[in-house]
Amino acid sequence: MWVNHDIENLVRLGAKELISKFNKEKFNVVKEFGQALPALTMTNILGIDSADHRYLKDLALKLIKALDLYITVKDLVLIHHASKEFIEYFRITMREKKMHEEGLLYKIFAANEKSQEPLSEAELISICIFLFTAGEETTSGLIGVGVYHLTKDSNAARSSQEWDLAIDELLRFNPPVQLLGRIASCDMNVHGKTIPNGSTVTLCLGAANRDPEIFDRPDELILNRTQNRHLAFGSGIHFCLGDWLGKLQSRIALEELFLAFPGLHLATDELNWNKNLAIRSLTSLEVATK
Ligand code: HEM
Repeated sequence: MWVNHDIENLVRLGAKELISKFNKEKFNVVKEFGQALPALTMTNILGIDSADHRYLKDLALKLIKALDLYITVKDLVLIHHASKEFIEYFRITMREKKMHEEGLLYKIFAANEKSQEPLSEAELISICIFLFTAGEETTSGLIGVGVYHLTKDSNAARSSQEWDLAIDELLRFNPPVQLLGRIASCDMNVHGKTIPNGSTVTLCLGAANRDPEIFDRPDELILNRTQNRHLAFGSGIHFCLGDWLGKLQSRIALEELFLAFPGLHLATDELNWNKNLAIRSLTSLEVATK
């Protein structure tokens, strides 16, 4: 059974391991750190080979495009190939029991074998892929914008409570999940407009997080903001299952990075955002340590 401090240690070790390889003065913090850490964490939690984290991260990056509103045929082909590879990876992992006994995947597998109503292999595989992908681009997006904003902030040393506030404000200001989709299950009236039963609705979390009726000075990043009821993790029954893990990883990532490189600063003026309307993140960010 995992307890919180085990996960915290595991994430911190992962962050230190990745940082220890940055022996150059400049590096791409998104590609080499922000995207790598959540993937490494998930391989460690699932108990699969951590050397596979970069391969699985690349698949997750391709698959996440499926959540975008606008996709081309070329995207669909990439998504199709990525899902086939993902399915094959977890099928082999489970069939050949390539997982550590203390990891989550082994425990799910063992519990399922004893269950009266076991899940099918396809259902187990889809849980693994969903868990892996849900935590990858989102957390990596938060780490990326966190590095970007904190390089401009002189207060690198923060107490635990200050970190919590800062992470929530980064989530409010630049939420990694910008859009959610829903289907109305009955006729609804929202601010005088009728949304008929069965219609599709796109909810813009990014806009809700800047609502001037809820947030004071909504377009300003205020890292010690205290009234912060943002919607970056959604709301209701589908509220994010991994909110604590996403926040924990981002906090540890930023803490360890600025501890290792107190003078970390941007080595570029260029911000490269991914081309995905629903899941927003930087695709690269060059930083310099000196
Ligand atoms: C900063 C990081 C993260 C952000 C911003 C984020 C955001 C979200 C949002 C907005 C939803 C709601 C989707 C909806 O209502 O349709 C969601 C759901 C979910 N998230 Fe996250 N997430 C993050 C990290 C993670 C992590 C690390 C995991 C697990 C490893 C995870 C697993 C899930 C799962 C399983 C759901 C579906 C819950 C359900 O439908 O009941 N997320 N996330």
